[in-house]
Formats: sequence, structure tokens, C-alpha cells
Amino acid sequence: MRARRREVFTGLGLNAYEVEMATEKRCSVKLLVFGASMREGSMNDRLASLAADVAEEKGASVERATMSDFNCPPYDMDDELSKGIPAAAQTLHDKLLATDGFIIASPEYNASMSGVLKNTIDWVSRFRPQPFNGKQGFLIAASPSMTGGKIGLWALRQPLEHLGARVYPDMFALAQAHQAFDASGRIADSKLQNWFEKTIECFIDLVEASKHYPHLKKQWVEFLGERPDDETTRVELGETAAV
Ligand SMILES: Cc1cc2nc3c(=O)[nH]c(=O)nc-3n(C[C@H](O)[C@H](O)[C@H](O)COP(=O)(O)O)c2cc1C
Repeated sequence: MRARRREVFTGLGLNAYEVEMATEKRCSVKLLVFGASMREGSMNDRLASLAADVAEEKGASVERATMSDFNCPPYDMDDELSKGIPAAAQTLHDKLLATDGFIIASPEYNASMSGVLKNTIDWVSRFRPQPFNGKQGFLIAASPSMTGGKIGLWALRQPLEHLGARVYPDMFALAQAHQAFDASGRIADSKLQNWFEKTIECFIDLVEASKHYPHLKKQWVEFLGERPDDETTRVELGETAAV
């Protein structure tokens, strides 16, 4: 089958490299997947498990984690200066560096994002180089509400995009999540399950392209002042590579 495809693409006048790319099975893509709720029996953790299974079915390898792996004390610059960045933030930093992208299933609290997750993002942002820069991210949520936690995902985009992550345009919010899963952990509504799977597949395609086509990489600038100022501005060329 692959030989036949190779013949077809060669016949179309593609060069050897293009034929290789066109007939290649998926190039390596590694994703960090975690739910951002601390709760035992969390619906977001269930959705993260489903996303991890689907991502593996679509050819990615997955590093699965939970929010308790990344739970940090409240950010305090005095603590940072006296004690350093906490181990749980280091854990997320290391897992981001070891992967090409991330999927976060985040609960919505009071029409915004999880405070625990925001606190961890703030700690992780203190590393230099800053590991969210250039990482592809896909955001999902589960909630018993009719909006499924979508408003919280819009809030979560903000710090992540600020830090140079490339957050996938589509987001997936599972409404009435307390009754949305079947016994096997899939989404009972087959249309929704199919949409979820296709979106993850498209996201993995993008992660794969951004990893294997390095010319897509860009510069990240964090500009906080009125005038460019070395005290407040960080400029990082390229992106934080997976190791
Ligand atoms: C303090 C608090 C605020 C909440 N606010 C919202 C909200 O604004 N929108 C929403 O859809 N659900 C809201 N919820 C309900 C959560 O979506 C629900 O508790 C969900 O189960 C949390 O995710 P988890 O199951 O992964 O822990 C809120 C829950 C709590 C405890």
C-alpha cells in the first residue's frame, strides 16, 4: 500500500523528500495531557483520560499527569527569592520541555479558569527559558452546566497565549458532563465523540507540522512597559524545544 502511494506521489513529480513526507506514517508527536481539577473523581480528569486514549489512537505518544503533580503554594515573590521555584512547578516545566504540546482539561469556576492552575502557570512562567513558549496547546473542559466550562477556557487562553503558547483555535467543552460519559469512559453521544476525536486528530496534525517544519517557529516577546526596557522585557528567539 505504502509502495503504491510512493509510486503515485513520484508520478506527480514530487521530489524524494516530499514523497517521504507524503507517505510517512505520523512523525513522532508527544503530548502532555492532564486534568486541572484537584478533586477525586473529577469529570475533567475523566475527559483528560479520554483525550489521552484518543491521542494515542491517532498516533501520538502521551505523558499523562494530574493537577496534584503540579499543585504549588500561592505565588509569592518573597518565597521565590528566598526558597526558589517549588518542585511542583519544576515538574510541569520538565514535562513541558519533554513534550511537543499539551492538552489541558480545566474546570470552570465562577466563569473563569481554575485558580490552582493559574497559580501553577504563574510559577512556571518564572523559569528562563520559559517553557510554554512555542508549545502547541489544546484546551478542553467538562462541566455539569449547559456551557460545559467554555467560558473558563477563554480565560485560560489568556495567560497561555501571553506566554507564547499556540493555543489551538477550537476548544472542546462537554456540557452536562455528569451524564455525558458511557460506561467505557467515552462520550455517549456518538456525534460528540466523533467530533472530539476529529478535533484531537487535527490538533495532532498541527503539532506534527510545527515540530517537523521548523520554519514555522517564531519569536516570543513579553513587553510589559511603555518603552522597551531590559528590566521588564523578555525576548526569546525560537522556541523551547522538546528534549
Ligand atoms: C466554586 C465553584 C464555582 C463554579 N463555577 C462554575 C461556573 O462558573 N461554570 C460552570 O460551568 N461550572 C461551575 N462550577 C461547577 C464545576 O463545573 C463542577 O464542580 C465540576 O464538577 C468541576 O470539575 P471537576 O469535576 O473536574 O472537579 C463551579 C464549581 C465550584 C465549586
